[in-house]
This record gives sequence, structure tokens and C-alpha cells, in this order.
Amino acid sequence: MTAYPSVRLDRLLANLGYGSRREIHGWVREGSIRLDGQPLVDAGARIQLASDLSERLTVRGVRMDPPAPLVLVMNKPEGVVCSHKEPGRSVYELLPARWRSRTPALSTVGRLDRDTTGLLLITDDGPFLHRVISPRTHAPKRYIASLDAPIRGDEAAIFASGELRLEGEDRPLAPAQLEVLEPRIARLTLIEGRYHQVRRMFSALGNRVISLHRDRIGALDLPEDLEPGAWRILDAEGRGKVLSSSTDSVPGVA
Ligand code: URA
Repeated sequence: MTAYPSVRLDRLLANLGYGSRREIHGWVREGSIRLDGQPLVDAGARIQLASDLSERLTVRGVRMDPPAPLVLVMNKPEGVVCSHKEPGRSVYELLPARWRSRTPALSTVGRLDRDTTGLLLITDDGPFLHRVISPRTHAPKRYIASLDAPIRGDEAAIFASGELRLEGEDRPLAPAQLEVLEPRIARLTLIEGRYHQVRRMFSALGNRVISLHRDRIGALDLPEDLEPGAWRILDAEGRGKVLSSSTDSVPGVA
């Protein structure tokens, strides 16, 4: 039989952002927290974190939110920011309100600019986050850029060279792969995530990115049926795809 870690009921629900421990004790007294349909009577009871717990435990008649570790895939819409600190509407506002009070907190795996759309991962799983953003993992990120001016022809070689330096930076960029889809539309695969990297790469060659969309991280594609602003929980298979990198498609990356 699988041995699951256990946690006090009041702590579990407080960490999921449902309310204070005091409120949770009140709901237990009312009989509004149920496991397999039976009211739980002790808010201090230890609950096993079985993989199906969120299907079996209800809080005031509604299934409990999934506990940590959680990885979400979102189709980030235009005009929202990835940081709590930046002004404006954030991606966290697209999630249920109580998720902003979860411990451990959810954070984005890297950032997309306000105007960039597409595949964004959000997680409370620290080791997963660090593996995806670690330069050692080389998880490739793929972008579709639409450009102000047509591709002139030498961009792919310059991006693949590993010698391009962005303004104000000493270290050259790692090789990146450019595929030209149309004269003004290009697909760019990067293994780093420097600030405004795609926009700055094109700007270094005298072009300008008009719109930018990320459609893949590692071997995980943005699900086609995920509307802008929508999100879903990523299962173990999806998480594996993020980390099973397809670096062989990026020239110069071992
Ligand atoms: N590169 C950019 O310039 N912006 C993003 O949002 C992501 C990569």
C-alpha cells in the first residue's frame, strides 16, 4: 500500500487559501467539510495526501482544490503581466481568487512580456521551476514572431553563431534556431531566457517584433483547445514533456 504524507486538516485548507484556521474550525463544527461524503469532526485530524484526495474531500459542498505540487499551463493573453509587482492586471487574476493565498505560493516559470501571448507555466513546485529555468536544463522555448520588416536572409546564421551580443551585455547569446515561415513571420527557438530576448535579438539586426507568441517549451506544445486566458493543470506526462528537451533541434547545443 502506498504511504502518503499527512497534514493537519486545518493547515491543509489554510495553505490552500480557504481561510483562517479559525474559519476552518467553524466549517468543521458545521459539518461542511466531508471526506468520502462523511463530515470530518476534528479540524486537527491528520489527512493523508492521497493522489485522489481532491476528488474525495469537499469544502462547503465543493471539491477541494488540488494541493501542492501544482503545475498549470496557461494560454497567456495579451495585456496581462506576469509579476505581482508590475502595474496592471496579472496572470494570477485569471486563476481562482483564493489561489493567491496559497502556501507555497504559485509563481510563473520565467516571464512573458505584457504583450507576449501563449504558453506560460505557473507552479508552486520549486524544484520543477528551477529545473525548467536552469541554464543547465536547456529547456528550449519556441516563439513565433511577426516582424515589421521582411527577413533579410542572414539572421538565422547570426542567431545560430553563438556570437551575437545584446546591447549592454558582455556574454554572447547561446546559439538559437531561426526558421522563416513567411517573409515577416519567423519561428525562433531559444535555450535561454534573457530580458526581452526575442525583441532585443531582432532589434540588434535592425528589425522590430510586432507581436510575439510562445507555442512550445521543451516537448510541450500549447494545447490547441486552450483559449487565451484559459489554463489547466498539467499532469505528470505534461511535466515530463517540459523537461524532456528537444535540444537536438537547436544547433550548437550539446
Ligand atoms: N522574448 C521577449 O522579447 N519577450 C518575451 O515575452 C519572451 C521572450
